[in-house]
Amino acid sequence: MRIALASGDGIGPEIMDATLALLRASGALNNIELVPVEMGKAIFDRGETRGMTSEAISTVESCGLLLKGPMGTMSGGGGKSINVTARKIWNAFANLRHFRSLPGVRTPYSMAGIGVDFYIVRENIEDTYGSIEHQISNDVMECKRLTSAPGCDAVHRFAFEFARKSGIDIVHCGHKANIMKMTDGLFLERFRSVASEYPEIRTADVLVDALCMNMVMRPQQYRVIVLPNLQGDIVSDLAAGLVGGLGFAPSANIGNHISIFEAVHGTAPDLAGKGVANPCSLMFSSIMLLRHVGLLGHAARIENAILAALEQGVRTADFGDPTEPALSTGDFAKAVIQRLGQQPRHVKPVVDGVDHLTHRPPVKPDSIEEVRTFAKRPERVVGADITLDGSEKLSELAGSLQGIAKTTPFHLTMIANRGTQVWPSGSVYTDCVDSWCVRFELRTGSRDIQQSDVMALLEAIARRYTVSTYTLLRNFAGKAGYSLAQGQ
Ligand code: NAI
Repeated sequence: MRIALASGDGIGPEIMDATLALLRASGALNNIELVPVEMGKAIFDRGETRGMTSEAISTVESCGLLLKGPMGTMSGGGGKSINVTARKIWNAFANLRHFRSLPGVRTPYSMAGIGVDFYIVRENIEDTYGSIEHQISNDVMECKRLTSAPGCDAVHRFAFEFARKSGIDIVHCGHKANIMKMTDGLFLERFRSVASEYPEIRTADVLVDALCMNMVMRPQQYRVIVLPNLQGDIVSDLAAGLVGGLGFAPSANIGNHISIFEAVHGTAPDLAGKGVANPCSLMFSSIMLLRHVGLLGHAARIENAILAALEQGVRTADFGDPTEPALSTGDFAKAVIQRLGQQPRHVKPVVDGVDHLTHRPPVKPDSIEEVRTFAKRPERVVGADITLDGSEKLSELAGSLQGIAKTTPFHLTMIANRGTQVWPSGSVYTDCVDSWCVRFELRTGSRDIQQSDVMALLEAIARRYTVSTYTLLRNFAGKAGYSLAQGQ
């Protein structure tokens, strides 16, 4: 078996060295070839816009497994995140993250005798993480949020399969479907649909804001929580805070062909080069990898050694009893290695069975596959939402658009600004910016139209205004495929 290996940036190489030392000492790597690949900020700075070389890509694709350290991404400007690119190009659609109380890691919960042990399954491909962004007027930026039924199905099915395999009897779905009725509404609807295939597992859904409060008030009520991408990312860091910080949160990005194992945390620039970072998160991520490939015995042995070390007060500076000395990253690894073969005494040791390698190198698909959830439904074009720049008074804009629509099958039904209806009625308290969304719908009794009718309207509008985007309004099986504006 081969595993592609990228140490990453910042504290990445330090925690990777510690993790590999532990894996080697345990014997887990005896029949495994580690293949270093060039990925990270340095490669990005060399002009490789994906942050990895072509050789790195083909190595990861032939191995099917990547163990990686964190990689830095600039905030605001700069290139796209290498981490997100990796998850997306290899379709690692489910991000599994484990948060649990650990011995020797003091938190308000451990001190109160409350045990925390839950998983977050974060959708990893869609949502605002598509980072499909445009400047649509002088003053306005737009980010498109995409949610697909096949994308939801894949992550929900993974969450339920994982719960079933782990003997977990409840799965929660976090969402904001009360506000984003179509995107998060689909996420929730598909959760319910997939749940029906797992009748032995109880389900509940929770608004993500309430989820955050519940997680702080009573985290022990959760076992598996499935969330959309951005919400899952934010809630994960909150969850890490419950169990002692990011140094303890491992993660696996699971795909059908390629899976990536990495810490939840980033490059920790404040700690980089000091040799003080906590390697537990990456160590636990590598244990997830061992379990993923069937090396269950090795996974248990390494996990028990870490638990024994933590229980005996072995610590890095970010946790534990401050009156005890803090070890360097490398010495922490040595202390765990010394405990290989030991079992923790105060928490339940992990019993994982025997090694049975299940991993096979993936077979590269011949072409891109189109995945579908629903059979094709009858659809009808009923109008268009057009976003345009405008500096006229609202009443003049409305009058001019009504004039333009006169000779078309459409009439102007609504003008919205930042998603709030301001015409034909609205509130004088709504501040308007320089980008307007104008909605045209078919007049009653109009003939059936084609998209070309919308294009003709668009062309007429574009003669007078700068049109930045347009979206067809369609009904699918008689149901409106578009939302109402706030106040409409
Ligand atoms: P971060 O996770 O690197 O650090 C947040 C805080 O947690 C810092 O105070 C840091 O010292 C602490 N911390 C993180 N890992 C730790 C460890 N192993 N031991 C002890 N303390 C630890 O988040 P930040 O500073 O927001 O991001 C830094 C860079 O990392 C950014 O460029 C970001 O884009 C990138 N990043 C990469 C990720 C990945 O590779 N998957 C994930 C998250 C961020």
